Amino acid sequence: MMKRFCFLLLAAAAVLLAGCSSSGRVMDGDGMIRQAAYSQITPEEALEMMEKDNGHVVVDVRRQDEYDAGHIPGAILIPNESIGSDPPEELPDRDQVILIYCRTGNRSKQAAQKLAEMGYTNIYEFGGINTWPGELVKEEETAEVRAFNFENRSVLLNSGYEMPILGLGTYALDHDTCVNSVKTLLANGGRLIDTAYMYGNEEAVGEGVRRAMVEYGIPREEIFVITKIYPNQFHDPEAAIDIALEKLDLGYIDMMLLHHPGTDDVKAYKAMEKYAEAGKIHSLGLSNWYVEELTSFLPQITITPALVQNEIHPYYQERDVVPFIQEKGIVVQCWYPLGGRGYTADLLGDETIRAIAGAHGVSPAQVILRWDLQRGIVVIPGSGNPDHIIENLDLFGFELSEDEMAAIAALDRGEKHDWY
Ligand SMILES: NC(=O)c1ccc[n+]([C@@H]2O[C@H](COP(=O)([O-])OP(=O)(O)OC[C@H]3O[C@@H](n4cnc5c(N)ncnc54)[C@H](OP(=O)(O)O)[C@@H]3O)[C@@H](O)[C@H]2O)c1
Repeated sequence: MMKRFCFLLLAAAAVLLAGCSSSGRVMDGDGMIRQAAYSQITPEEALEMMEKDNGHVVVDVRRQDEYDAGHIPGAILIPNESIGSDPPEELPDRDQVILIYCRTGNRSKQAAQKLAEMGYTNIYEFGGINTWPGELVKEEETAEVRAFNFENRSVLLNSGYEMPILGLGTYALDHDTCVNSVKTLLANGGRLIDTAYMYGNEEAVGEGVRRAMVEYGIPREEIFVITKIYPNQFHDPEAAIDIALEKLDLGYIDMMLLHHPGTDDVKAYKAMEKYAEAGKIHSLGLSNWYVEELTSFLPQITITPALVQNEIHPYYQERDVVPFIQEKGIVVQCWYPLGGRGYTADLLGDETIRAIAGAHGVSPAQVILRWDLQRGIVVIPGSGNPDHIIENLDLFGFELSEDEMAAIAALDRGEKHDWY
């Protein structure tokens, strides 16, 4: 008790020294307006407070992957986005001293304000661990392969967001075809769309999504749009991200990828991290990154990518790269699932695939896409043909046996159709 009292004195002194508090107005149960306040202190003051044994709690309000990569010893994780209007159950005592931090200080201020408005009285916000003077601990490698939920057709990403496991690729679709294809997808239950700066159709994707939201009453949160910035944009990544936000015009971007490795790719990724922290991009990822590229890239960034998008089809299966990525808790998504425009005839005409399709009464395209899903790979087949778009969504009425999966695995011939 005495210790706690001393600590509170120290805490009060720290605030006086820091001379800074922040407040917001809240209405209490009697309808009276009062100030909800928290105190801002420096990381050095927070460290000093933590060194006393005082019944305080240290709260990290970043995301799980950031926490795992390094956090203050003893800190508990309560992601800022999980703090709603009810007091978090991890913080039952509203008078307890709460020391709160994030990476750069944005999310910790938001979280501190929310807690203050819920009636917590002893909140000390000390910014980001970017400037933390003490030790950090790393979680043991906890990443697990992200399992697909076939019932609701989604996967929970390491960013905390759910992503549909099948959707539409829009490469080479001109404006009108793209708008119509996006609408067809959404009208028929698809919710995932892949575009890129390089495809020149981000405006069309945005238009298709907005029109479908109005015409079919689909909420924005149900739709997941991926776009990518191209290496010739990496030198000024903030401008590139702003362009994508403006062209899509959907409020936020569900996921942004770097299109392929290039000069300034780390700088570009770090810019995406800043936008993720501000909530303008929800999840981050990479495209055309393989074992060597990932091994050198991952230690240079803070937010582990949620997704890697690479070329994968029965003639180019990436049997070594796919598990390497998945075991890091990163989801794999395939481009050119049907071989890519100009190459589909071989794959769709393949005897083994046709025989399996015949046995299930489905098309060769459906067999290939289902094979990907059963390997835990997200599919975004490209199509401007409404019948194909609808067919490509119909992958849940049949299942490939182990023998059929093995027969398709045996088709691998390392035949890549495009290089970056
Ligand atoms: N990150 C990267 O570097 C990268 C590179 C390439 C592509 N991508 C992404 O990956 C997506 C998929 O790749 P892709 O579109 O190039 O190639 P793809 O999906 O392998 O093949 C598209 C071709 O398949 C045809 N097709 C689609 N569904 C079919 C069906 N059920 N039956 C028969 N034919 C069908 C399409 O024709 P119809 O239009 O007539 O249906 C089109 O010619 C792209 O759209 C793009 O979003 C990413």
